[in-house]
Amino acid sequence: MSTRSGNLVDSIRRSIVRRVSLSIIVTVLAIGTVAMAAIICWHYQRQYDDFESSTSNVTNAYSSAIAGAMWHLDTSQLNLLADGIQQQESVSYVRINDRGALNIERGIRPYHRDIQTSDLLYNGTPIGQLEIAFNRESVFSTTIQTILPSLIALLVGLSLFGIILVVILQRVVSSRIQSLALEVRDRLENNRFEPLSLQPSSSHDEIDSLIRTFNKLSERILDELQQKTVAQQQLSVVNLELEDRVKLRTYHLQETVTQLNQTLIDLNTTQSKLIEAEKLSALGGMIAAIGHEIETPLGLCLTVQSCLKNDVIALKRAMPSGAINQTQDAMAAVDESLAMLDRNLKRSAELMKGFKEVSAGQIGDDRQRISLLETIQEVVAVLTPKLRQTKHTINIDCASNLMLQGSATAISQVLTNLIMNSLTHGFHNIDEGEIRIQAGENHEWIILRYSDNGVGMSDETKQKIFEPLYTTLRGKGGTGLGMHLVYNIIRQRLKGDITLEESDVGVVFRMQIPKQKRRQAS
Ligand SMILES: Nc1ncnc2c1ncn2[C@@H]1O[C@H](COP(=O)(O)OP(=O)(O)O)[C@@H](O)[C@H]1O
Ligand SMILES: [Mg+2]
Repeated sequence: MSTRSGNLVDSIRRSIVRRVSLSIIVTVLAIGTVAMAAIICWHYQRQYDDFESSTSNVTNAYSSAIAGAMWHLDTSQLNLLADGIQQQESVSYVRINDRGALNIERGIRPYHRDIQTSDLLYNGTPIGQLEIAFNRESVFSTTIQTILPSLIALLVGLSLFGIILVVILQRVVSSRIQSLALEVRDRLENNRFEPLSLQPSSSHDEIDSLIRTFNKLSERILDELQQKTVAQQQLSVVNLELEDRVKLRTYHLQETVTQLNQTLIDLNTTQSKLIEAEKLSALGGMIAAIGHEIETPLGLCLTVQSCLKNDVIALKRAMPSGAINQTQDAMAAVDESLAMLDRNLKRSAELMKGFKEVSAGQIGDDRQRISLLETIQEVVAVLTPKLRQTKHTINIDCASNLMLQGSATAISQVLTNLIMNSLTHGFHNIDEGEIRIQAGENHEWIILRYSDNGVGMSDETKQKIFEPLYTTLRGKGGTGLGMHLVYNIIRQRLKGDITLEESDVGVVFRMQIPKQKRRQAS
């Protein structure tokens, strides 16, 4: 409240109207004062002159009567005359003297030189003096009395003039400037740069031009603001677009990087698979070649052994019984050697057959369409006599409509080897093992999952499982050719893939075989 009143006082103190009015009033007052002073002086002078001339008139009028009374020494007459003079309006002091003892005085003698002294002449002879003085104060008061109404009128006029001036200034200048200031402040405080509601008057004065200028300025600021807003909106749209684009690019880039990484991993896997496949293929080829090379001399050995056996039988028949008795021990040794030769040659021939088979040559017709379920069931049926001797079970989970183009013999060989391995290796010291064969498909592939819950494999076996001649039953009937044959059949013949998967129990093989026969191996 005090601040507001303080502001009001401050604004009044600073008001143009107040200052202009004050200046005008001071000027008018100064001029008025000067004019009044001049008027007073003029009136005073006139009054003074009037008093002076009336004093002279009085002197002239009374001189001869006083001179007569003085001549006759009529003191009472002189006193009456002195009283009469003193009662004149302009006279304040009278003195009649005869330069001797007579001295009649009325009033207080003033100490200025405005005392008119005239000689009293009787018949031309000076007999005394008459001194008359008029009162300057009464001159002044008379002057004042004369001009007082004019002065009051002047003062009233000046005051009226001042008031009217202030009102006019207030209406024409101050109130308009204040309204202008209020509107401008309102727009500034509320950030509203719209034209003023204050209309310029028809007089086209400075304030009107100020209003027009401010309106133009606010229009321009409004334009600028609008342009700025539009520019900001466009900028934010561009920013958003840019952000989106950056996000999209980053996303694509990340996708590309992920794809590249995956490709790299795939490439590494393929490379190691290729190296592995090459190695296995080279080893397999070598074993097949050994099998092929040894098969012929081995066949010859078998023939020779057979001939030798026949020769020994013929020799025995031809020999007299006495001679046989004599050579009985030697004959027995020969028979035993021949039997041993026969056993080992046959085993070697079997092994060589296995050696030749690992090359996974033509096994049956590759182009026939076979039912996977039927093929699995046939394998299980063949192995049933063997399974019956144990408590192991085989679970098959395969849809009956799963078909693929390939050799049923090849699939049978794969499954037979896998099942035989589970029985021989996996279920070693296990009475009730379980084998699961699960099959599914996708657009291109048949996915075959073979697992048992046997003892599983060591890390070394996992590494070398597909290598030819790798067996953990060396010298105990193991040849190490089964899994290599499985690998070759799946990869080379069926153009598929086989991997050993990680599992906590037993072993899990995952095989994928193309539904349609392929020309190129991966
Ligand atoms: N189901 C299985 N459970 C545990 N070990 C297995 C299984 N299948 C294969 N193996 C291991 O893989 C080796 C190689 O198998 P394979 O090539 O068939 O040779 P073989 O059966 O003549 O030993 C086996 O000696 C055995 O140690
Ligand atoms: Mg085996």
